[in-house]
Amino acid sequence: MPIYHTLGHLPRKRHAVFRRADGALYAEELIGNKGFVGPASLLYHVHQPTAVREVTIHRELAWAADPEPTFRHRHFRTAQLPPAPSLTADRVPLLFNPDVAMSFAAPEREDDYFYRNAQGDEVVFVSDGAGVLETVMGAIAFGPGDYLVIPRGILHRYRFTERPLRCLVIESRGYVRTPARYRNEHGQLTEAAPFSERDIRRPAGLETRDERGAFTLVVKKQNRLTRYTLEYHPFDVVGWDGYYYPWAFNIHDFEPRVGRFHLPPPVHQTFEGDGFVICSFCPRPYDFDPQAVPVPYAHSNVMSDEVLYYASAEFMSRKGIEYGSVTLHPDGIPHGPHPGRTEASLGQTRTDELAVMLDTFRPLQVSTAALGIEDPGYYRSWLEGGA
Ligand SMILES: [Fe+2]
Repeated sequence: MPIYHTLGHLPRKRHAVFRRADGALYAEELIGNKGFVGPASLLYHVHQPTAVREVTIHRELAWAADPEPTFRHRHFRTAQLPPAPSLTADRVPLLFNPDVAMSFAAPEREDDYFYRNAQGDEVVFVSDGAGVLETVMGAIAFGPGDYLVIPRGILHRYRFTERPLRCLVIESRGYVRTPARYRNEHGQLTEAAPFSERDIRRPAGLETRDERGAFTLVVKKQNRLTRYTLEYHPFDVVGWDGYYYPWAFNIHDFEPRVGRFHLPPPVHQTFEGDGFVICSFCPRPYDFDPQAVPVPYAHSNVMSDEVLYYASAEFMSRKGIEYGSVTLHPDGIPHGPHPGRTEASLGQTRTDELAVMLDTFRPLQVSTAALGIEDPGYYRSWLEGGA
């Protein structure tokens, strides 16, 4: 995130002597990506963050692709997924390619360990529930509609205050950022962007825990969860500064763009990654010309697979979807409004739709774990009179 942020206590110069009250040195740690040249933050720990007692395998994450050789429009109902214990370990994979993966989590309980994703950045969209994202860099309270952006390598855990939690999880090989076209050459969001820095919630409330014992950390790397027993409580940071940290943005802080006639999906873009974009479809007035057709036209995705997560049961151009639905409209075949939806939209003045869209530039594979919640007839749902 190109906003400098700092919490706690720091020495005046980087890499300079900085001592605890007992005279020992604080332990400096750089966290970032792209080695020493990407966005980074510098943390000061009470103890060395490298003190590990044990390393064991926690779980293998075998993601298998649906062997179905045809491609077609797909529909999955996440509302049918039963709760599973963990937000971090029991995510159900839905769709994936080498750049990005979408999964869904309905956690029954808080983890009894800390977690770090070492293979990807995470964007966790909180569809239901509330809590606190506790991290090594401070805490962020979250609630419905929040996107939690957790760059890789940042140790954290979730605390729940309102249940049930239902979360859409997007894991990205590349760095997740705001769209470049929203920022000026200095990194600031411009007046034309649909949100501003004021909408970006950064960590607060840094609490320093100076505790020795056995603290479990689960690290995701190479599609495997590895379990570490740490010698010291990992939330032992007294201060940090930099540009690399978790942040939150609520979908309702996205200011939707409306035109006299239909505007295409890029106006809804919220994030970009390597090989994908994420867009937010928010409640808004419809196009305001009396002759405007509010719902979109059919379109063949151009080198892009399009995934929608429906965070409300309403979506202007679709029928048969429900809260929690996920649709996949792949590149190579057109999709568009369902029969009757275009005519019905004429004269409408607003929509209350709420949806998260993931557009990927490389084809997605469907996870076998998603087949049990699939609506198998979806690809025929554009037939007049219904499938
Ligand atoms: Fe579309």
